[in-house]
Amino acid sequence: MFAAKEPFTMKNPIFGFSKLTKTQKIDWIANHYFNHNPEATSILKAYWNDDPSLQKLHDDFIENTLSNYYLPLGVAPNFLINDTLYTIPMVIEESSVVAAASNAAKFWIQKGGFKATVLSTEKNGQIHLDYYGNKKNLELFFTEIKPLLFESIADIQKNMEKRGGGLLNIQLRNVTETLSGYYQLRCTFETLDAMGANFINSCLEAIATTFEAEAQKFKAFKDAQQFPKVVMSILSNYVPNCLVRAEVSCHVNDLEQNDINGTEFAEKMLRAVAIAKASPSRAVTHNKGIMNGIDAVVVATGNDFRAVEAGVHAYASKDGTYSSLTHASLENDIFKFWIEIPLALGTVGGLTSLHPMVKFNLQLLKNPSAKELMKIVAVAGLAQNFAALRSLVTTGIQKGHMKMHLMNILNGLQASETEKKKAVQHFKETTISQTAVSDFISSLKK
Ligand code: MEV
Repeated sequence: MFAAKEPFTMKNPIFGFSKLTKTQKIDWIANHYFNHNPEATSILKAYWNDDPSLQKLHDDFIENTLSNYYLPLGVAPNFLINDTLYTIPMVIEESSVVAAASNAAKFWIQKGGFKATVLSTEKNGQIHLDYYGNKKNLELFFTEIKPLLFESIADIQKNMEKRGGGLLNIQLRNVTETLSGYYQLRCTFETLDAMGANFINSCLEAIATTFEAEAQKFKAFKDAQQFPKVVMSILSNYVPNCLVRAEVSCHVNDLEQNDINGTEFAEKMLRAVAIAKASPSRAVTHNKGIMNGIDAVVVATGNDFRAVEAGVHAYASKDGTYSSLTHASLENDIFKFWIEIPLALGTVGGLTSLHPMVKFNLQLLKNPSAKELMKIVAVAGLAQNFAALRSLVTTGIQKGHMKMHLMNILNGLQASETEKKKAVQHFKETTISQTAVSDFISSLKK
């Protein structure tokens, strides 16, 4: 077994950890954090894939891979989107999310389903500049070298251009009123079916290099001995011009359910949305529920959920206060419920052709284009919000949530299969809580 040459302390960190073999890394972790307990090693190994080549593929996704971390992959069927029927894959740990999505899908399939439209697909990135010289000189310089900046990425964007995408425009922006000496080159891109992060960042860095090199030769800068300097070049995850809208609508009478009539239900839904618009505290939870649906599909399709989260929440604050991402109206007896969000997604590149589960999920979605995936993901968010609000304004959320969570509580209590069956039966009629389930299982054991 591998042992560290010297004891590991705060004063003696390990350098070169990434150079160790996987077995050495695991041994090091077991030795230093688990007191040599062999269970620490076996739990990591128990989650390895039986197929070594598949495991190697996962090992190579990141640095210092020790094992795999499972999350359930579930599916929500019956999603009718623009008259096409989808079964949507969702990767998520929260018990009630897939059930809620399926419920919403079932509810709306009888009312014409979801309609979704991509409004725009533009991505953007910035080259952040420091410049304290004469503004006019910078503007002159930028106008002069703009064609050269485009030329500087000819090789990088050759393939993207062939497919109809690439760099759309570069603008010089003066941001000195916000931060002294701060200018930006704002670049906009069309990246088609790719999320485009690597493409955009490569373009930005090449443009930045040309920009700085040319600046050194520009006479007015030389005369004043004031040159613009590149601070950094990076894409923005705020993509307000990469927008998708999803919507459901029906006659208010068609909303009637159980013991509540359509108008009463519609008014409750409208009020719930109005509250999320009025109160940032509520809006955060309201939008979190939307992200339950969005993230689950974004992860299932191998997309970057942190990028999506960051961009969507920034969009929720676009008018100055954090607000609801969904909207509702009731006009001429027609109830409408919709979402409009920025989503930078890809269906080629990244993990899409590497991760076997991602490939499977994309195939399940009929190998969508990025635009189609934007629609599906927006619908998943809208459906999730509809399901959450529907519960919140009628039965309350806990009834359905705890029903789905019961199995987690039972597993946590290490209940046997027979005990689980009895508990499921018992809690059909009884309120579920950790204590109630624990007491019930104890009573069975007596
Ligand atoms: C829980 O994950 C999500 C909800 O809190 C969303 C909401 O309150 O709208 C139920």
